[in-house]
Amino acid sequence: MSEYRIAPSILSANFAKLGQEIEDVIKSGTDIVHFDVMDNHYVPNLTIGPLVCEAIRDLSHNVGALIDVHLMVEPVDRIIPDFAKAGADIITFHPEASNHIDRSLSMVRDLGCKSGLVFNPATPLHYLEHVMDKVDMILLMSVNPGFGGQKFIPQTLEKAKQARALIDAYTAKTGRQIWLEIDGGVNPDNIAEIAAAGVDTFVAGSAIFGKPNDTDPNRYDTVVKSMRDALATV
Ligand code: DX5
Ligand code: ZN
Repeated sequence: MSEYRIAPSILSANFAKLGQEIEDVIKSGTDIVHFDVMDNHYVPNLTIGPLVCEAIRDLSHNVGALIDVHLMVEPVDRIIPDFAKAGADIITFHPEASNHIDRSLSMVRDLGCKSGLVFNPATPLHYLEHVMDKVDMILLMSVNPGFGGQKFIPQTLEKAKQARALIDAYTAKTGRQIWLEIDGGVNPDNIAEIAAAGVDTFVAGSAIFGKPNDTDPNRYDTVVKSMRDALATV
């Protein structure tokens, strides 16, 4: 794999200092702001919406980071345009949360964003079968969605291998790349094994934002470097 991307989940960041947190974590060598949207309906938690996305838009883009909006909401179509307008670069949603998956994917693309589907641990990959052309990213949940700080579900590794095979076959046929992202319980100790299963984009929340009271601007360098070092062994 030529390129790995690390996507800190700001769900575990210090929200009182969110802008600073994003600038510092991207400068420590990460690539993508993973933005978890929960609605207390599709998942039993309530987080952040388009207003916060808009607030972090310029500072994220100024440090070269994409904003990766992970929608854990139902339904999805009403809110997609709001996030596109608020600066989202990538918008992913769970297929169970949309009655018209093809339409929702097209809507994301038509609004100028990259589109993706998210698979819960028990959700089969067959939702991809007829929409590969409309997907830029496949996101595999390695925990059940709703909360940061949960333990990685090891069965996800087998699913990652299946998703990698689907993507490679598709890329061989079309020449088009699709990113494979994983979300939940990723840390410096398991990231290499996950990469070996074919994942190229890694969400990490609690493993990165572990020490909320530290004010050193380089406080994330050590953990990010340990992830990069582990990836270099793959
Ligand atoms: C869970 C979220 C994740 C979460 C990851 O529903 O989608 O992005 O913040 O957090 P960690 O890395 O702590 O499992
Ligand atoms: Zn997420």
